[in-house]
Order: sequence, then structure tokens, then C-alpha cells
Amino acid sequence: MIITPMQRAHIAAVLEIERSTSLAPWSDRGFLESIEHHRARVYCDADYVCGFVVYRQTADQAELLNIAIAPGRQGTGCGSRLLRAMIYELCGTIRQLSLEVRVSNFRAIRLYQQHGFIQVGERRGYYPTADEHLREDALVMCREF
Ligand SMILES: CC(C)(COP(=O)(O)OP(=O)(O)OC[C@H]1O[C@@H](n2cnc3c(N)ncnc32)[C@H](O)[C@@H]1OP(=O)(O)O)[C@@H](O)C(=O)NCCC(=O)NCCS
Repeated sequence: MIITPMQRAHIAAVLEIERSTSLAPWSDRGFLESIEHHRARVYCDADYVCGFVVYRQTADQAELLNIAIAPGRQGTGCGSRLLRAMIYELCGTIRQLSLEVRVSNFRAIRLYQQHGFIQVGERRGYYPTADEHLREDALVMCREF
């Protein structure tokens, strides 16, 4: 198992994960821009892409933009390892790492809490839902370094 920079060759597999785990999936363009302008990492088991994380750093602040693990690999520690690798990479260069998460995403909230994130705010109606008339709130979470 290795964590390595995302490359164009990974995008088809990354899109498959994204589409199977997100209600508002990013397009291939979102991932191409991430490769060019942000930091994007994939978690691979031999040639199989198990998951990915995308984040960006501006001065001493960083933001987690996207993280997902293939449905068949969820609950096996991949998300935790990806998050730990990201934190390790950023450690010493940032003061704060922030993210948004759906209020209903208990699994992700639990994961972030385990890695030192605390809730610092809420964004009303931040996310789309399957029902085009309904929006879902986001929690804003932060980890200080
Ligand atoms: C959220 C996500 C990235 C977590 O990755 P994962 O590989 O499944 O998580 P891990 O196996 O590393 O587990 C880490 C922690 O997450 C939580 N967790 C994982 N699976 C869980 C489940 N089925 N129920 C409740 N909590 C769960 C637990 O706190 C777990 O720690 P523990 O094993 O000590 O109990 C993954 O479930 C996912 O891709 N979800 C869909 C996309 C998504 O929601 N992304 C986050 C957007 S903000």
C-alpha cells in the first residue's frame, strides 16, 4: 500500500470512487485542476486505487477539499492513513487545517475528531442533496498545529 501524488493516469479510478461516494461529485476537470494547483494524493494497493485526498495550502493555512475511499475498502483504516499522511506532510508549515463536512456524515465527522479536528462553525444550506429543493448544512472543523 502506498500514498503517492495523484497523476492523470489515476483520474478514471478516482472519478469512479468520487461518483460512488458523493452526492455532488467533482468532474474530471476538478481533479485535473487539483493536480495542477493543489495537492492531490492517492492511496494505492498495487495498481488498485483505494482512495484519494485533495488539499490546498495558502501561507500558514490549509484546507481539506476532498477525501474519499472506495466503498469496498471503507472501514479498513484507509481514510485514517490518508489523513495522517496529509497531516504529516503539512506539519511544521501550517498553523491551521480546516474542512467542511455534511452534518449527516457521522463517519467522516468521527474520523476528523479522531485526528484532532474540532467544530468551529456551521454553514447553513452549504451542500446540495438528492432533493433539488433541499440543502444540507455543513460543519466547519479545524485542527490547530
Ligand atoms: C469518511 C471516509 C473518508 C472514512 O474513511 P474510511 O477508510 O472508511 O475510515 P477508516 O477505516 O480509516 O476509519 C476511521 C474512523 O472513521 C470512523 N468510521 C469509519 N467507518 C465507520 C462506520 N461504518 N461507522 C462509523 N464510523 C466509522 C471511525 O471513527 C473510524 O475509527 P475506528 O476504526 O477507530 O472506529 C470514508 O468513509 C468515505 O470515503 N466516505 C465517503 C466520502 C466522504 O464522506 N468523504 C468525506 C467528505 S467531508
